[in-house]
Amino acid sequence: MQMLMTLVRAVHYASFLSLAGALAFAVVVAEPALRRHGDDGGASGLRRRLAALAWGGLALGLLSGLLWLVIEAQNMSGKPFAEVLAQGVLGVVLTRTRFGNDWALRGLLAIPLILSLLPGLGQRSAAATIGRWAALALAAAELALIAGAGHAIAGTGWTGDLHLIGDGAHLLAAGAWVGGLVPLALLFAAARRDPGSACARAARDATRRFSVIGVIAVGTLLITGLINSVFLVGSVPALLGTDYGHLLMVKIALFLTMVVFAAINRQWLLPQLAAARGDVLCQLQRNALIEAGLGGAVLLVIGLLGTTPPALHVQPEWPLPFSLSLDALEANPGAQIQAIVSAIIALGGLVLMGYGLLQARRRTPQILLGLFLFIAVGAWPLQFMVVTAYPTSFYRSAVPLGVGSILRGERLYAENCVACHGAQGHGDGPLAKSMPVKPADLTAAHIFEHNDGDLFWWISSGIVAGGMPGFAPALDERARWDLINFIHARAAGAQPGALRAEVTAGPAPPAPNFAFEQKGRQSSLQQRLQQGPLLLIFYRLPQSAPHLQQLAAAEQRLSAAGLHLLALPLAADEEPPDPLPDFAATADADAADAYRLFMPAGALAPSEFLIDGAGFLRARWTVASAADMTTLEAQLARLAALPLQRESHVHAH
Ligand code: HEC
Repeated sequence: MQMLMTLVRAVHYASFLSLAGALAFAVVVAEPALRRHGDDGGASGLRRRLAALAWGGLALGLLSGLLWLVIEAQNMSGKPFAEVLAQGVLGVVLTRTRFGNDWALRGLLAIPLILSLLPGLGQRSAAATIGRWAALALAAAELALIAGAGHAIAGTGWTGDLHLIGDGAHLLAAGAWVGGLVPLALLFAAARRDPGSACARAARDATRRFSVIGVIAVGTLLITGLINSVFLVGSVPALLGTDYGHLLMVKIALFLTMVVFAAINRQWLLPQLAAARGDVLCQLQRNALIEAGLGGAVLLVIGLLGTTPPALHVQPEWPLPFSLSLDALEANPGAQIQAIVSAIIALGGLVLMGYGLLQARRRTPQILLGLFLFIAVGAWPLQFMVVTAYPTSFYRSAVPLGVGSILRGERLYAENCVACHGAQGHGDGPLAKSMPVKPADLTAAHIFEHNDGDLFWWISSGIVAGGMPGFAPALDERARWDLINFIHARAAGAQPGALRAEVTAGPAPPAPNFAFEQKGRQSSLQQRLQQGPLLLIFYRLPQSAPHLQQLAAAEQRLSAAGLHLLALPLAADEEPPDPLPDFAATADADAADAYRLFMPAGALAPSEFLIDGAGFLRARWTVASAADMTTLEAQLARLAALPLQRESHVHAH
């Protein structure tokens, strides 16, 4: 099915590209050039061929569009082919889905498109000229609207719109360039057949016009292609490590080869065309056809891309045993100085190269020296950035950081890891002494320097040299991510400087999510944090009663200052406080149990957590029975003065 869909997509793109391309070529390139160089019988022949190309493209485009619709409807409804046609599924798809609406609009546009093609593309009348312009506009709209069937429609908001507009422009540029290649080859063929004809006289003029279009189109394709890649691939690991990324690289390689042929035509062959030499025409024609063939291959790749999940939505498999990391450079002051010096020299090389290129007579030695400095010296600091990498190094955690996951991880840790890494994670379990390498201290700050994906690799595959076994056979993927969530939470709680009674600007751990019920309504920490910073209170009665009353009295003032309150009992079976403050809520025992990891001394005690609007734990303290409320307000003021940070060294998910 994927094969068929790929093929249908490729044919559909090719048809509408060549329809729009043939019309654009006729209107913007051929007609003006022919008019200037005297029309004749040869020109009419070319017009007839362009008309045939346009009609053929339209017919094939409508047919493949219909097939695309049927396949899509079959995918959406999950019904067999015959039922899709018989039971009105198509109608539902056309009226109720975004893809269907887009297709319906394109179907409607096809009617005026056919009407405007009817006056006879091959003619030289005024009606034909108007028809051609109208047909060009409609064909361009048809082409750009194909973007509505791509991955871009999955986006929302202004970024989704930008992506959609980018895709539309990408298609239009491809139509103007790739779709014009066969018409260009037809023009060369006509010129070769009759060296005295209008086509031969107009060839140079037309080629120059086409080459201007080509340059604009290639620029547009580059920019919009970049936008598209950022949306659907987004990173180097995704480019190198997913099917989508690989296909994209094939597409880019084909595109660059096309550009090379186009450049040869423009820089080399076009200037020789003045003499209208037959051999030059022949080479031009051959190159245009090769470009068109490569363009066809690109369309097949695009067809495949359309049926492959975008790279952002799959875990990338890193293909190399190393990767480059800026953190490694940051940790090495000596290397930083070398990096700065080599960056300056490389920049000098770039300037030298530019100088050599811009001189009236090109200075080859300067250009080569500049190139050498730029590449060789510029690449020098890369050696300091090399770090070991594994296939899963760039995996993103598949399990969100929640209290349930942390507690599952804690249980798995007790069952599988304590023997070596010790009950508290310090690497001092009973087996530690007999290991060839001391088991790592999993509470050290150093744990945060590793990617989630690296930890995932070690836990899955083990560390052979150190004698740590791999757990992939025993624990499923979710269990391994649970372990990582637990290790991160415990290590964050164990950092001496990280969580204090004072708000600091340093790295802060993300607050694990949990669900709670308040006045009969379900909510979650994550939802609540959308309103801004939060004071999370774990209380125990009767001890905490005076403090809860203090908070109730201060609630309005605090919320005016932007702080919301949420109070949970330390034990789930706690009697509700009386009077019940409206910031009180109930949650599973899991919430307090997981937050225990962040409480002072790692023990359940009445405590408060100040969580910033981005979801990071900024400060925590214990409250015996009543507190000095001015301290809380001072911390709140410090929190407000912090620049809001979205990332932390302690990874968020
Ligand atoms: C048989 C002993 C043993 C067991 C069981 C074991 N480990 Fe290890 N682990 C080690 C040793 C030894 C090292 C250090 C290896 C080295 O540095 O070469 C290590 C290293 C690690 C590291 C790398 C930390 C770093 O900063 O480099 C992680 C993460 C880790 N273990 C997690 C776990 C988890 C999670 C479990 C339980 C699912 C586990 N280990 C079970 C022995 C063990």
